[in-house]
Amino acid sequence: MTGTGKAERLWAKKGISPISSLTAYDYPTARLLDEAGVDILLVGDSLGMVVLGYPDTTHVTLDQIIHHTAAVARGAKNALIVSDFPINTYRTVEEARANAAKLVEAGAHAVKLEGGLRQADKVKAIVDDGIPVMGHLGMLPQRVKEEGGYKKKGKSDLEIEALLEGALALQEAGCFGIVLESVIPNASRQLTDQLDIPTIGIGCGEGNCDGEIAVITDVTGAYPWFVPPFAAPRADLAGQTTKAVKAYLAAMKNR
Ligand code: KIV
Repeated sequence: MTGTGKAERLWAKKGISPISSLTAYDYPTARLLDEAGVDILLVGDSLGMVVLGYPDTTHVTLDQIIHHTAAVARGAKNALIVSDFPINTYRTVEEARANAAKLVEAGAHAVKLEGGLRQADKVKAIVDDGIPVMGHLGMLPQRVKEEGGYKKKGKSDLEIEALLEGALALQEAGCFGIVLESVIPNASRQLTDQLDIPTIGIGCGEGNCDGEIAVITDVTGAYPWFVPPFAAPRADLAGQTTKAVKAYLAAMKNR
């Protein structure tokens, strides 16, 4: 199935069944998540933090996302693979079109960019090139330095209005879905109700969006050094890894 076909299949789930989405950055994780039946695998620029050891996502380059997209594409057969545009790789319509094509060449079915109204012309151009686009509104990690931290969005009527204006512009431009990050539950619900395209929430409370997305290490407990308050770890891979390595070291000592 083409990327557009896969995106349309997910779009059709709005109001019918929840859309599942997790980040993936490598072949084994992508293969496991795909075989488990996850709808969307996001090669997110959270890569910079949970894989490459940077303090935030603003250090990630296009080459790094391309490298990890190719690995994910080798592991996933069914899921829609969405790759993030890193910061400063979609500043103009032409730059966005050229780099979207590179991400698709690496194996992505769709691309994701941060921001609303100011991105609408880029979304339209990429969609016109036949590449599905996902939006990202609310807390925008690529602006964490300007914002001075990870802050909740949608706390006032003015903020909700701005979010809605951005979301409608992205929808009009052709986005097949929008990630809402750290938007307060009531505002997330309003956006979900007013849009025809699915919203995919992270840190928006449970059940206020058409789907949920999580950073894979927040689900598996593989990155214990920074766990966002809304994360719900389902395993303790960090603890299990330490235990396994200690057992390996002990066995070596006793040989
Ligand atoms: O990069 C990422 O992992 C993301 C999710 C937090 C939505 O953009």
